[in-house]
Amino acid sequence: MKLYQVPVLVGLATSAFGSALVPRQASNESCPGYTASNIEDNGAKVTADLKLAGPACNLYGTDIVDLKLEVEYETESRLHVKIYDAEELAYQIPDSIFPRPSSEAADPSNSLLAFSYTNDPFSFRIVRKSSNETIFDTSAASLIFESQYLRLRTRLPESPHLYGLGEHTDPFQLNTTNYTRTLWNRDSYGVPVGTNLYGDHPIYFDHRGSSGTHGVFLLSSAGKDIKIDNVGGQFLEYNLLGGMFDLYFMAGPTPKDVSVQYSEIAGKAVMQPYWGFGFHQCRYGYRDVFDVAEVVANYSKAEIPLETMWTDIDYMYLRRVFTLDPERFPIERMRELVDYLHANQQHYVVMVDPAVSDREDGIPNNGYTDGVELDIFHKNANGSGYYTGAVWPGPTVFPDWFHPSTQDYWNKEFLEFFDAETGVDIDALWIDMNEAANFCEWPCLDPHGWADESGNPPVPPPVRNSSGRPIPGFPGTFQPPQSARRLRARQSDKYLGQPGRDLINPEYEIQNAAGPISYKTIPTDVKNYDGSHQYDTHNLYGLMMSIASRNALLARRPERRPLIITRSTFAGAGSHVGKWLGDNLSLWDHYRQSISNILEFSALFQVPFVGADVCGFGANTTETLCARWATLGAFYPFMRNHNGDTSISQEFYLWDTVTEAAKNAISVRYRLLDYIYTHLHRQSTTGLPLLNPLFFQYPEDENTFAIEHQFFYGDNILVSPVLEENSTDVSIYLPKGIFYDYWTHEKIESNGSTVELTDIPFTSIPLHIRGGSIIPLRAESANTTTELRKKDFVLWIAPNENNEAEGSLYLDEGDKITQDATSEINFSYANGTLKMTGTFGYDTDVVIQNVTVLGASQRGEVVTIEGPISLNEEYSSGF
Ligand SMILES: *[C@@H]1O[C@H](CO)[C@@H](O)[C@H](O)[C@H]1NC(C)=O
Ligand SMILES: *[C@@H]1O[C@H](CO)[C@@H](O)[C@H](O)[C@H]1NC(C)=O
Ligand SMILES: *[C@@H]1O[C@H](CO)[C@@H](O)[C@H](O)[C@H]1NC(C)=O
Ligand SMILES: *[C@@H]1O[C@H](CO)[C@@H](O)[C@H](O)[C@H]1NC(C)=O
Ligand SMILES: *[C@@H]1O[C@H](CO)[C@@H](O)[C@H](O)[C@H]1NC(C)=O
Ligand SMILES: *[C@@H]1O[C@H](CO)[C@@H](O)[C@H](O)[C@H]1NC(C)=O
Ligand SMILES: *[C@@H]1O[C@H](CO)[C@@H](O)[C@H](O)[C@H]1NC(C)=O
Ligand SMILES: *[C@@H]1O[C@H](CO)[C@@H](O)[C@H](O)[C@H]1NC(C)=O
Ligand SMILES: *[C@@H]1O[C@H](CO)[C@@H](O)[C@H](O)[C@H]1NC(C)=O
Ligand SMILES: *[C@@H]1O[C@H](CO)[C@@H](O)[C@H](O)[C@H]1NC(C)=O
Repeated sequence: MKLYQVPVLVGLATSAFGSALVPRQASNESCPGYTASNIEDNGAKVTADLKLAGPACNLYGTDIVDLKLEVEYETESRLHVKIYDAEELAYQIPDSIFPRPSSEAADPSNSLLAFSYTNDPFSFRIVRKSSNETIFDTSAASLIFESQYLRLRTRLPESPHLYGLGEHTDPFQLNTTNYTRTLWNRDSYGVPVGTNLYGDHPIYFDHRGSSGTHGVFLLSSAGKDIKIDNVGGQFLEYNLLGGMFDLYFMAGPTPKDVSVQYSEIAGKAVMQPYWGFGFHQCRYGYRDVFDVAEVVANYSKAEIPLETMWTDIDYMYLRRVFTLDPERFPIERMRELVDYLHANQQHYVVMVDPAVSDREDGIPNNGYTDGVELDIFHKNANGSGYYTGAVWPGPTVFPDWFHPSTQDYWNKEFLEFFDAETGVDIDALWIDMNEAANFCEWPCLDPHGWADESGNPPVPPPVRNSSGRPIPGFPGTFQPPQSARRLRARQSDKYLGQPGRDLINPEYEIQNAAGPISYKTIPTDVKNYDGSHQYDTHNLYGLMMSIASRNALLARRPERRPLIITRSTFAGAGSHVGKWLGDNLSLWDHYRQSISNILEFSALFQVPFVGADVCGFGANTTETLCARWATLGAFYPFMRNHNGDTSISQEFYLWDTVTEAAKNAISVRYRLLDYIYTHLHRQSTTGLPLLNPLFFQYPEDENTFAIEHQFFYGDNILVSPVLEENSTDVSIYLPKGIFYDYWTHEKIESNGSTVELTDIPFTSIPLHIRGGSIIPLRAESANTTTELRKKDFVLWIAPNENNEAEGSLYLDEGDKITQDATSEINFSYANGTLKMTGTFGYDTDVVIQNVTVLGASQRGEVVTIEGPISLNEEYSSGF
C-alpha cells in the first residue's frame, strides 16, 4: 500500500551530509589488492590467508589487512566461496534468519565446477568443467575489502544474458551497459523503473544458451550497488557497504537446474492453502465494515467468485495496529462479517504493519503497552528511550525482531486480537511497511510534531449517521446505525560488524532512490538486541517480520498452513511467505511490467506465491485496462484486485466488460487450480518453478532470451496477453513444436516464429497448450474453491510430434501442514495408451469424467475416453 508520495531524493538529500558531498580523491586503481598464502587444499575444502598487498588505499573506509579465503565444493553442482576478515568481525547473517545449506563435501573431481586462483595479486576463477568455460573471474579488478566498502568484479562475455538481482521493475533480461542495481529495501510507491524497491534478492542467472546456465548468489544483507557495464571489458561488480563476500556458484547446466540448486540454498517454497489460489478483493479506503460487506454482497450478486475479502489499515483505530475503529469497524459487526464469510465458504484477511503507535489516548493500545512491558522496541542509537519515527498512526516505535521476547510479544498480540472466539478471526495475514518504512526523514527529531500534507494521522471518513441500504445476504441487525522457527539471539559477538564505523553516513554512497541510507526508515545506527546494527541488517527487517508473523499464525492455528503476503522480502522469504509486488499504478506499463516481476519472484527468487495488484493500486484504472488485467491476473499465482484510497473504485462488478472478463478468467483459473497447485507442491518439494520464462523451456532458442511479456503458467500453458491499450491484437512468439489453442483446441505446428493474433476480445486472453503435456482440469468452475474441490476432473491430452504426452496431479486435503494422505499421480500417453501411475493415498469420490486427445480428430483417431476413471488407483487404457 500506500499513496504516500515522496519526492525522489537522489543526489539532493546529500547536502545534509557534509563529508559525503566531498568527492574522493583516492583512486580505486591504486588499491593494492591481496596476496594469498598458507594455502591448504583438503579436497572438498580449500583455505588460504589473504594479506593486503601494498599500502592501504582506504578508498571509502579502512582497508582490512588480513582476510581469509574459504572454498568448499558443497555438492557436485554447488561451490561456496567465502572471503572474510581474519578477525571475524564483519557482519554475517545469523543462521537462524538464513539457514545455510549443509555441505555434502563433494569430491572436486566429480564437481561440475572448478575453482582456481592466482596468488599475487589474488584473484579467483570458476570454470565449468564440461566446456572449460570461465563463468566467474575476479581478475577484472583488484579486490577491495574495507570496513565500509567491499568491491569484487567479475569479467563476463560480451552481451551476456543476465536475469535477477531484484527487486526491480527493469527489463527482465538485465541491461548490460551502464546499469546499476541498488539493493536497499524501501517503500517505493509507484515502483519506478531503475530504482531499488522493496526487496533484496542478490542472485543472478547467467544464461549462455547451448553452453549452459549458471547462477551466482551473494549471501549479503549489506546495502549494495551491483554494476553491469562494458567499459574496459564486460563485467559485473559488487559494491557493498559492509559484511563479507559469501558467494554460492550454481552449475546448472539448465536454467531449471539453477532454480533447483538455488532452492537448496534459499529453502524450499512454503506450501500455501488450496483456497489461497482463489480470487481476492481488497482496497485501501473502504470507509467502514458496511462498505466491506457491500462489496461481498455485490460480488455475489454479480456471480463473480469471491474467495477472500481483505481490509487495509482502515479497520484500525487511528491506524494503530491491533486495534479496531470502534465506530466504523466495531468488533460485533466485524465478527458478524467474518462469520458471514465463513458460512459462505469465504475468507477474511487484514493488514498488520510493524510500526506501533506510541500514543495511549482513546482506546487501549495493547500493542504499545505490551511491547513496553517486554521492552522489545528499538532504542535510540545512544541507548536513550525508544527510537520514534512516524508511520500511518503518526509517531511510532518499531519492534526489534532480534530481541528474544519479540516473538512472544507478537504471538500474544495475534492470539488476543485475532482470537477466534472474541476477536477478528482472520484466515490469513497481510504485512506491509516492513522495509521498514518510516515517513519521518532522518534524523526525525520531532516525530510527535511531524505531519504530512494529508494530516497526521490521516483523518478517518465521517461515521454514517443515517440508516443505510440493507445489504443483501447479511442479517437485519447487520446494517448501518440508525443514526517456524524462532529467531534466537546469537551466542557469540562475532560477525556483528566492525566497531568504529560511520553508520549513518558511509563514504561510499549507494544509489538509494530515497536518499542517504537512513532516510525513510529506521536509522542505520540503531542497534539491534544482539549487538548488530540496522546498518547491516536493514534489508532483513521484512524477512524477520515474515518469520515472526508465520510463527504467530502457527501459534493461533498450529495445524493449518499460514497464508502470509508481505511487501518486503530478502532471499529465502519464499520458504515462509508469499509476496505482492507493492504499490503499482493503474498503467498499461505496470500491467506489462508485472509479468517479468512474477517471473523473477517465482522462477528466479523461489518466492512462487506472488502477484501484482490487479487493475493497479495508485491512479485511476479504465474499463479496458481492468478487463485485460483481470484476464492476466488470473495467471498470477496470487490474484488480488487492490486499489488505493484516492483512486476510483475498481471492483470487477462495476463494469459489464470487466465483469465478463473476470468471470471468464476466474473460471479458467479455477478449472486449472489443481494443475497450478500441483506445480506449487512440486516447487515446494523440488524447487522446479511454478511459472517459467520462455527460455526455461527452450534454453537453446535465442529468440526466447529477451521475452518478458509471455510466460508459461506451470510448464505447459503459454500465456500471451494483449499488450497495448485499445488493441485487440498481439504479436506472440511460438517456439518450435506443437501447440494447441486453449479455447478452440486448434493444433498449431510452429517452426519457431512470431505469430500475429487478432480480434482478441477484452474479455479473453490467448492461451496455448504445449504439445507433450497432459492437463488435468476440473470439469467446471465453481463460486468458491470449497465447491470447486467437489467437481470432477477431465483430462486434456496434448500430444507432441511423437504422439506422446505426460502430466501430473497432486491431491491433498488442501489446508493442513501435515497431510494424512496425498496422491501424486503421473499421467503418460504414448502409442494411443493412457496410463496413470504413482501414489494414490488421498481417497476421493471425485473422478475423471472423460479424457480428450487434442488435435486427434485431424488424424482420424478416437477423441475421448468416457469415464468415470477413479483417482484412487492405477489405470491404463487404449484409445
Ligand atoms: C574507478 O573509478 C572510476 C571513477 O569513479 C570509474 O570510472 C572506474 O570504473 C573505476 N574502476 C574500477 C576498476 O572500479
Ligand atoms: C579442460 O582443460 C583440462 C586441463 O587443461 C583438459 O584436461 C580438458 O580436456 C579440457 N576439457 C575440455 C572439455 O576442453
Ligand atoms: C548512464 O546512466 C545514467 C543514469 O541512468 C545516465 O545519466 C548516463 O548518461 C548514462 N551514461 C552513459 C554513458 O550512457
Ligand atoms: C535499459 O536499456 C534500455 C535500452 O536498451 C533503456 O531503454 C532502459 O532505460 C534501460 N534501463 C535501465 C534501468 O537502465
Ligand atoms: C454495490 O452495489 C450497489 C447497487 O448496484 C451500489 O449502489 C453500491 O455502490 C455498490 N457498493 C460497492 C461498495 O461497490
Ligand atoms: C456458491 O454457490 C452455492 C451453491 O449454488 C451457494 O449455496 C453459495 O451461497 C454460493 N456462495 C457464494 C459465496 O456465492
Ligand atoms: C481519479 O479520479 C478521481 C475522480 O474522478 C479524481 O478526483 C482523481 O484526481 C483521479 N486521480 C488521478 C491520479 O488521476
Ligand atoms: C484508447 O481509446 C480511448 C477511447 O477512445 C482514448 O481516449 C485513448 O486515448 C486511446 N488510447 C490509445 C493509447 O490510443
Ligand atoms: C467431457 O466432460 C466435460 C465436462 O463434464 C463435458 O463438458 C464434455 O462434453 C465431455 N466430453 C465428452 C466427449 O463426453
Ligand atoms: C511406441 O511404439 C513404438 C513403435 O512400436 C516403440 O518403439 C516405442 O517404444 C513405444 N513407446 C512406448 C512409450 O511404449
